[in-house]
Amino acid sequence: MWSVEPAAPADAGEVLAVTQRAFRPYQAKYPVAPEPLQDTLERVREDIDRGRVWVARSGSRVIGAVRVRPLGDRNGAWEIYGLAVDPEFSQLDVGTSLVRAVEDRLRRQGARALHLQTGLRDAPAIEFWYRVGYRPYRLEPDPDPAGGYDRVWFSKEW
Ligand SMILES: CC(C)(COP(=O)(O)OP(=O)(O)OC[C@H]1O[C@@H](n2cnc3c(N)ncnc32)[C@H](O)[C@@H]1OP(=O)(O)O)[C@@H](O)C(=O)NCCC(=O)NCCS
Repeated sequence: MWSVEPAAPADAGEVLAVTQRAFRPYQAKYPVAPEPLQDTLERVREDIDRGRVWVARSGSRVIGAVRVRPLGDRNGAWEIYGLAVDPEFSQLDVGTSLVRAVEDRLRRQGARALHLQTGLRDAPAIEFWYRVGYRPYRLEPDPDPAGGYDRVWFSKEW
């Protein structure tokens, strides 16, 4: 069994590692690595210090992580990003538990909507977001036609 809790500073290395394991299958699909694969330990540490990272922990091991950031242009709107579940633990509800923890916390803090972007070609992720109640509202084609990383924005409001 696992628990979901706010990340501690000592989790930064494991958060980065689980993110890289989860997103690696997407790497070969695109000429430019998706944002989570370009992440650095420093940025993960900054997010943890701001209380914007949650982890799923099984024993002492981090098996999943999720992060949030404010969407600057919209009042009360936040973006979920970097949702990552260790492939060894996929399809066990870990991702759903992480999203629910973020939703509970941000709702209590007064957030009115959650948004996220995912790759149009990242079919398992799109299935996942539908399943947890998010709906697409905007397609954002990759400005570089050779890049092929077209994004879909999803949101949930309450
Ligand atoms: C997408 C991801 C977060 C799902 O995490 P998870 O813990 O496996 O998901 P859960 O067990 O909570 O939910 C499972 C649901 O997600 C979807 N899903 C997960 N993996 C899937 C796959 N390989 N193929 C199709 N659907 C999939 C399905 O809707 C599934 O529901 P079902 O079992 O009833 O079919 C995880 O696979 C992951 O880290 N992927 C790589 C990184 C990524 O895409 N992150 C999100 C980017 S925005």
